[in-house]
Amino acid sequence: MSKQDEIDYVKNTGGLTRVWLNEKPFRGGNPSESARLLRDFAAIIELLNLAEGARVLDAGCGPGWTSAFFARMGYRVTGFDLAPDMVTLAERRAAREGVGAQCEFVVADSETFDFPPEFDAVVVYDTLHHVQREDLVLRNCFRALKPGGKILIAEPGFLHGQRAVAVTEKLGVTERGFDPRALKKILAQSGFHDIRHFVPTYRAFMPSPFAALKTALYDLGYYFALAHTHLQVWLVARK
Ligand SMILES: C[S@@+](CC[C@H](N)C(=O)[O-])C[C@H]1O[C@@H](n2cnc3c(N)ncnc32)[C@H](O)[C@@H]1O
Repeated sequence: MSKQDEIDYVKNTGGLTRVWLNEKPFRGGNPSESARLLRDFAAIIELLNLAEGARVLDAGCGPGWTSAFFARMGYRVTGFDLAPDMVTLAERRAAREGVGAQCEFVVADSETFDFPPEFDAVVVYDTLHHVQREDLVLRNCFRALKPGGKILIAEPGFLHGQRAVAVTEKLGVTERGFDPRALKKILAQSGFHDIRHFVPTYRAFMPSPFAALKTALYDLGYYFALAHTHLQVWLVARK
């Protein structure tokens, strides 16, 4: 579980030409993963509700698919990642999608970055669980936001670390999970307010109205029991 393993991840999983890293969320994965990521992106833009021209910081941007999509929404994007290969992929992707001019990418560590307070939103999507000190990351995010700016965090739930033990053993990358109550506390300690927790339901279409009703009742119990421990954690807060 070292930072070097995070840096080497691209090299250790097929290199810069791996289809998934270049085409995420479309080709190279599987249809249900693609659908989940596309729904996640839809949720992000709905929850952030930004005006065109807004400045977005994509923390731990990875191969840059969210950055390119933000740029296509009309936002001005800065993406950063610890892994230089990820930054290369993100730059290539933005150029390929014709949004290179609206994006800039830098190599930076989310535990130590220090950007001026210029951003309308910071997005921490599927990356916080790769660090050891989420308190440092959230403090740095707070500093990078304009007053009133929003942070959106979407990360795996509490059990992810146990589920992903094999990944850590094979690739050395850090895999953790979060309880939303603990993250909310750290957000508040970092200075954020108006902290809201969202529970993803991932139920787009039902085969019949009866199935929709049955599922709604089931979900009520399921989400009530598991929202704080098992499910993906979505939090939105303001500086
Ligand atoms: C699961 S990937 C997700 C990337 C991207 N957000 C996405 O949705 O494709 C996690 C990313 O976090 C990055 N990462 C790991 N530790 C980091 C750190 N300390 N600072 C910045 N990025 C980091 C990894 O290099 C990787 O790109």
